[in-house]
Amino acid sequence: MKLVSPSLLSADFGNLQRDIEMLNESDCDWLHVDVMDGLFVPNISFGQPVIKHIKRHARKPLDVHLMIMDPGRYVADFKEAGADLLTVHYEACTHLDRVLHSIKDHDMKCGVVLNPHTSVTLLEDSVQMCDLVLLMSVNPGFGGQKFIDNTYNKVRQLKALCNRKNPECLIEVDGGVNITNAPLLYEAGADVLVAGNAVFKSEDPKAIIRNLKGLA
Ligand code: DX5
Ligand code: ZN
Repeated sequence: MKLVSPSLLSADFGNLQRDIEMLNESDCDWLHVDVMDGLFVPNISFGQPVIKHIKRHARKPLDVHLMIMDPGRYVADFKEAGADLLTVHYEACTHLDRVLHSIKDHDMKCGVVLNPHTSVTLLEDSVQMCDLVLLMSVNPGFGGQKFIDNTYNKVRQLKALCNRKNPECLIEVDGGVNITNAPLLYEAGADVLVAGNAVFKSEDPKAIIRNLKGLA
């Protein structure tokens, strides 16, 4: 599968409605929404009140990436705000299994996110529960960082693990994705690519989205 989920972190926050409408008209599949708490990552982005407004305009599923400590506290709030998929960091959950069940109980797709230093092997006992796994290809907290090349190995390892334990599970990659590394990531086994700067800093975001999906 080749899905693209543009990250609104790189959109113009003063013109969010305009940028969301552009994405509605584009070939992208999901909208990636980055929530940061200034504790799990050294940056603060936005929370449920802004997501509610994003939801009012978006005609595609909201792929909400929680970069917050103890995300289980807010599952119901993000459901109410309009999340369709909710991903939580392995490193931020003491009781990951409980949090994943809670997301499913709230009728959302659930996913686990791994930081670049976190081994794919740690998902051996939780990948069965996941609709997707998100591999960070930068250290989370900021858009516009350089892609970490070891991600290709992790995608291949994760693909092998999914084939063994949960073939339906999607593999998503986030951070420094561009039109050069996108084909290599799909080839390694990725299904969904997040792209912030590559899309929003381009002259023609819709063309970049088509290119990332392998349509151009
Ligand atoms: C980083 C965020 C990413 C970010 C990606 O912590 O999780 O989603 O917006 O931006 P780019 O594609 O510019 O690296
Ligand atoms: Zn993200």
